[in-house]
Amino acid sequence: MRHLLGIEDLSRAQIEALLDRASGYLAALSGGAALGADLSGRVVVNLFYEASTRTRTSFEIAEKRLGAEVVNVSPQTSSVVKGETLLDTVRNLDAMRPFAFVIRHAASGATRFVADPVRASVVNAGDGQHQHPTQALLDALTMRAHKGRIEGLVVAICGDIAHSRVARSNALLLRKLGATVRLAAPRTLLPPSMGAAFDCEVFERIEPALDGADVVMMLRIQKERLVGAGVPSPGEYARTFGLDERRLALARPDAVVMHPGPMNRGVEIGYRVADGPRSVILEQVEAGVAVRAAVLASLSA
Ligand code: NCD
Repeated sequence: MRHLLGIEDLSRAQIEALLDRASGYLAALSGGAALGADLSGRVVVNLFYEASTRTRTSFEIAEKRLGAEVVNVSPQTSSVVKGETLLDTVRNLDAMRPFAFVIRHAASGATRFVADPVRASVVNAGDGQHQHPTQALLDALTMRAHKGRIEGLVVAICGDIAHSRVARSNALLLRKLGATVRLAAPRTLLPPSMGAAFDCEVFERIEPALDGADVVMMLRIQKERLVGAGVPSPGEYARTFGLDERRLALARPDAVVMHPGPMNRGVEIGYRVADGPRSVILEQVEAGVAVRAAVLASLSA
């Protein structure tokens, strides 16, 4: 694997191999162990044009646990503020011979755009509304840990589907692995073509999407990407689309609740559900380090 830009580039066998490798790393990491020296002597550059807590930190920890030399470039303090383009920035950094770039950018397609002209490997850490492949992999690892499989699961992905790269990456991965995917959102946050394009069932109310689900994945309302009046007030959204205990009771009794973070508590997810016994939200975060390590160790450039 030279780059990881989107789930569409991965076969089912590649996804399963990454998850198997990540499972081994997860066990080692939970015991506090480093992960060997696969990236020893190699430089990895993290370049995040958008805010991030979990993704950026877990990539950096994964890189360090694999022995990489890590360089964090912050657009706010680089020549980006002087108007340098993304492509020029990446080509100049590439001239310093890093092994890989981990890039997050607000433009859909940004990471594929820069991947071709550079020597180093590129890992997509989220590009606009397009893809967030390591998030889908860490979500799959978490589901597998709880359910023992992905094939045959019913996964309800609920909330701001329109703006969500997490929803798109998850839908692709879960369909490749044989899960049923339900996308549920208010009409203004659900592109009409998505059901057919991603081979998913679509729902304009949350209740029927939750009915009998094995996994409930809630998404953040992405205020920074909302133009115009796509959503009602937070209170109205919580009343019509928020996951509370009453709605969660529609899912299977052993259903798990996921959220990629950051959560808008009291809007798309209630406090009691977020902190309740069915929540695996912090396990997703733990799986993130293992999955990102598996991806980085699988890069061949
Ligand atoms: C997500 C993202 O940035 O795409 N967060 C994450 O990486 N865990 C989802 C979000 O911002 O809502």
